[in-house]
Amino acid sequence: EEYAIGLDLGGTKILAGLVDQTGRLIAQKQLPTHAEEGEKAVIERVLSATHDVLSASGIHPEKVRGVGIASAGVINSDSGEVVFASNLGWRNVPIGTLIGQRFGLPVQLFNDANAAAIAEWLWGAGVGTRNMIYVTVSTGVGAGIISDGRLVSGRDGSAGEFGHISIDWNGPSCRCGNRGCLENYASGTAIENAARHILTTAKEPVTNRTLVENGELTAKVISEAALAGDPFFAQIVKQAGFYLGIGAANLIYLFNPEVIVFGGGVMNASALLLPEIETSMRERCIPGLVNEVRVVTSHIGVEAGVMGAAGGIFKNPYCKN
Ligand code: BGC
Ligand code: NA
Ligand code: ZN
Repeated sequence: EEYAIGLDLGGTKILAGLVDQTGRLIAQKQLPTHAEEGEKAVIERVLSATHDVLSASGIHPEKVRGVGIASAGVINSDSGEVVFASNLGWRNVPIGTLIGQRFGLPVQLFNDANAAAIAEWLWGAGVGTRNMIYVTVSTGVGAGIISDGRLVSGRDGSAGEFGHISIDWNGPSCRCGNRGCLENYASGTAIENAARHILTTAKEPVTNRTLVENGELTAKVISEAALAGDPFFAQIVKQAGFYLGIGAANLIYLFNPEVIVFGGGVMNASALLLPEIETSMRERCIPGLVNEVRVVTSHIGVEAGVMGAAGGIFKNPYCKN
């Protein structure tokens, strides 16, 4: 039996997991990221989460084939550097080298959505397909593209920055430097901003406004209220689904996928989002291209980053299958 460590480096939490070759998560360890404490402190926590998960599992380090890291942002898989991650405030951080040196193991760095795509492809909603796209809807929006039986890498392993395709050249400025990016309309952050904007500018007294005043207006609160039937919040969540559907249509034109898998925290509201995604996606696509496309939610869920990063150690996702 062989094992791999998967690390998911997020803006709010660091998740480390020990995974076996069949896709079982044997042990996991979670730590808060606290990006505001700076690069060094975060790196220390990444190292200690890795160490802890290894010792908690009781598995001998010799049985571990390597460490896969999933990080939001632009990465360079050759150098093992996180090149630009706005949620971490990182520029050119050689996380791969640091982990490799500390644990003496081979390391492979992936973008978070690309890693999740690997997980869904190996063990989740994309099993048996050769053309699958995973879209994450969380703080930002990202994608991992499996095309013709392999993960699309691009030069640096950063192909699939789907959240930053511009859908409005005059739109709000994005943290990437562009304007009117998809994630400015369809992410958890976008949902929060839209709700806050309407609640603070509405002339009529709106009951939900107390959420803004108490600083409790989060994407999670909004989607829970929306799911429970609040029409104001439901409208905002549905709007995000409308934009995601437009994005999905563009993905279909580019990659001719069999299935598009939607995951990430915001997809907890999939009951509201999926019908909107389906509608705008199908309306905007040539029928012959879109008719057979399935749109589903993630099977793996919150562990997809960890699982996929580890999966990428067992099986080279860039090799054609
Ligand atoms: C980042 C991507 C990431 C996505 C989801 C975007 O803002 O640019 O790299 O995959 O958020 O986390
Ligand atoms: Na990606
Ligand atoms: Zn952008």
